[in-house]
Amino acid sequence: MDVPKKADRSDGAPRLHRGIPDGGETQVAALYWEAFGRKLGGALGPPAKGRAFLASHLHRDRGIAALDGAGRVIGVAGYDLAGRALFGGSARDVLSGYGLLGGVPRIALLALFTRRPAEGELVMDGICVAASHRGTGIGSLLLRETAAVAAENACTRIRLDVIDTNPRARALYVRHGFGAVHTRQTPFLRKPMGFGAVTTMHRAVTPDDLSGGTP
Ligand SMILES: CC(C)(COP(=O)(O)OP(=O)(O)OC[C@H]1O[C@@H](n2cnc3c(N)ncnc32)[C@H](O)[C@@H]1OP(=O)(O)O)[C@@H](O)C(=O)NCCC(=O)NCCS
Repeated sequence: MDVPKKADRSDGAPRLHRGIPDGGETQVAALYWEAFGRKLGGALGPPAKGRAFLASHLHRDRGIAALDGAGRVIGVAGYDLAGRALFGGSARDVLSGYGLLGGVPRIALLALFTRRPAEGELVMDGICVAASHRGTGIGSLLLRETAAVAAENACTRIRLDVIDTNPRARALYVRHGFGAVHTRQTPFLRKPMGFGAVTTMHRAVTPDDLSGGTP
């Protein structure tokens, strides 16, 4: 489903790309680590190893990329649809990559991030924009395009999780129609991962979403 798609900007850049472009795995892994390294470090660190693990277990058909004029990935929205997420990697892969002793606790940590979609649901699997490009509308484009993917796949709802230390991202989601449905307190994660609560948000998918991130 690698269909290039133009973003709604008059200068022609950035543009959205359905699917992660062939060869973009390393760039996506680097962006994810830049954005979520604190959260992922315990499970997949050290950083170079974690980025390599993410890149080699990436499902290109489960992401939307924002590309700059040179074709570099400057933003990505991953999603889980029908049980297939942007990042794969089974328990066996973790054990073979990190060894038996190191692998078992990592598998337990990774289980905390696993969010299976319910029937008719698309679950967002991380959205991030390169730090140098934030605040310019790329995240909004990616959210709209994710809603288009949900609508095209006959989903009725989008679900995501946001942590308590990220109020700006939460405000962005509210502006895009998401509402909080419940908050899980996670004080045991404050020290290892830097956050103490996770809020799940939902947004209904409507026929208007079919137009996505394009004008
Ligand atoms: C959240 C994120 C994807 C938004 O992408 P973006 O391209 O900056 O989004 P837009 O330009 O469309 O909208 C900007 C809004 O995003 C939100 N935002 C969240 N974190 C931000 C940041 N570090 N810089 C700028 N805006 C941020 C704000 O609501 C901002 O609007 P405001 O400054 O007027 O309040 C991006 O900031 C990012 O990658 N953050 C780090 C990773 C992350 O937190 N992902 C979400 C996990 S739930």
